[in-house]
Amino acid sequence: MSELNNIALKIIGKGKGILAADESTGTMTKRLESVGVLSTPENRLMFREALFSSTSMTDCIGGVILYDETIKQISSKKTKITELISDMGSLPGIKVDTGAKVLAGSPDEKITEGLDGLRDRLKEYYKIGAKFTKWRGVYNITKDFPSKLAISSNAHALARYSALVQECYMVPIVEPEVLMDGEHSAEDCYEKTSNVIEKCFEELISHKVDLKGIILKPNMILAGNKSKNKISNDEVAKLTLKCLKNCVPSEVPGIAFLSGGQSELEATENLNLINKYNDTKFIMSYSYGRALQQSALKFWSKDIKDIKGTQKIFNHRAKMNTLAAQGNWSKGLEI
Ligand code: 13P
Repeated sequence: MSELNNIALKIIGKGKGILAADESTGTMTKRLESVGVLSTPENRLMFREALFSSTSMTDCIGGVILYDETIKQISSKKTKITELISDMGSLPGIKVDTGAKVLAGSPDEKITEGLDGLRDRLKEYYKIGAKFTKWRGVYNITKDFPSKLAISSNAHALARYSALVQECYMVPIVEPEVLMDGEHSAEDCYEKTSNVIEKCFEELISHKVDLKGIILKPNMILAGNKSKNKISNDEVAKLTLKCLKNCVPSEVPGIAFLSGGQSELEATENLNLINKYNDTKFIMSYSYGRALQQSALKFWSKDIKDIKGTQKIFNHRAKMNTLAAQGNWSKGLEI
């Protein structure tokens, strides 16, 4: 088994999942301000360190995606953040794209940037202790979007990124996120997500990426958040599985979903059903940002010194999702 495959399995094997704590400073500032906390480097670290030192890091969280600011910070115990995460038994990862920018040629769509100088940045992150990376392509659904241009240019960037990351001995998380914003139906989401994922694999294969050494991070198949025709959780799970079965080559070890604006409970329930119905060989796990942090952040914002209370809430969410990643969650386990 390749070393990269081993790393991927360490991150999402045995029911473990990923904590996506890689919000850019701009996004984190919005999250902190929404709960009335001043967004300073110290406060951003305090909340994140509370999560990174909680017990679920050992039992549930196989990997943590960090932002550039955080991976270079020193913990309150004077250790490197990458060491804190590794000492807890998890693996540190890093977001390496530099954000989604206006796509020339289709200015209402986005292209993710960050390839220039990437090889050197990867070497630096690897030295600091990163074992895996993330790059997010983002697509919106309308009657005409995502366009062929957005689909092919983002797939190309994701593939070039992945090849560089593997060259540097790290596992690339390939994240093509088809947004849930809009009035579209679940069928639209199914069709457009399928086009996006198929193109990504076409490019990954052309760029000679070792598919055994990646993790795919897709959206689930959902009706748009403004759609009048919502579908049941059962249908979400079945459509999501059908899409992935058709579009993802069998060499890929696993899939870690983003939560994408679903509530904490929805994200857990849908993941649980996906695993209940999973008749593929793919591991189906989670790489949640909001759906792992929301309640913990709300609690913490009321008393930023109450680290133990914050950790209790985070531990519960992580445990629920780890059960869901094995199809063993039920509503009765929620508090
Ligand atoms: P959400 O789970 O909040 O969608 O975040 C996951 C992520 O990493 C988005 O890039």
